[in-house]
Amino acid sequence: MGNIKSCLFDLDGVIVDTAKYHYKAWKRLCNELGFDLTIDENENLKGISRAESLDILLKKGNVRLSDEKREMYMERKNNWYLEYVEQMSPGEALPGSLDFLKACKDAGYKVALGSSSKNALRILEKIDVLHLFDAVIDGTKVSKGKPDPQTFTLGAEATKAHPSECVVFEDSIAGIEAGIAGGMYTVGVGDPETLERANLVISGFENVGLEIFEKF
Ligand code: BG6
Ligand code: MG
Repeated sequence: MGNIKSCLFDLDGVIVDTAKYHYKAWKRLCNELGFDLTIDENENLKGISRAESLDILLKKGNVRLSDEKREMYMERKNNWYLEYVEQMSPGEALPGSLDFLKACKDAGYKVALGSSSKNALRILEKIDVLHLFDAVIDGTKVSKGKPDPQTFTLGAEATKAHPSECVVFEDSIAGIEAGIAGGMYTVGVGDPETLERANLVISGFENVGLEIFEKF
């Protein structure tokens, strides 16, 4: 179908609803540091690495920390986040996302993960989908986070596809920009206004089939 060979999926907020757990954990950290984090402000943290997210928040709260304290707060946030992750089950995959992944595989497309998270493998195991991926590019494998295209460029290379043969599925502004910068097609998963730069925006994977590739 069309020109596509590889499907590159973000994880948090695309396959599974962990975006809400990241938000809860960051908000708790901000509150501890004496300021708040709204759901709108959180939109700009989506897709961004843990260290960069903390820097954005410290700037917003006008808080200065030593490198040592930054590490400590990042670990604290991650421990809270992992408490949520440990309670996850396969039922927590977003509606239709696993069926869509399986349909991609069955139709012969390569399937790769392109996530900024260093916890991605743990989450894929928790929801029992690791076996569906031909390649996993996560936060442990990249030196430049989204919106840099490196995450998806490595995904394209790992699945032996040219960027123009790849479609990126993303819920974050940073991730859509990464896909565009990498020369790939982009499908936004979420709000069309927020993700206006994507080639196509879907609200989720329910009732979405491989016909969307015909547009590319
Ligand atoms: C991205 C999330 O997938 O991963 C971000 O959208 C998160 O919110 C980033 O900060 C890094 O995740 P982690 O699990 O390594 O802290
Ligand atoms: Mg995401």
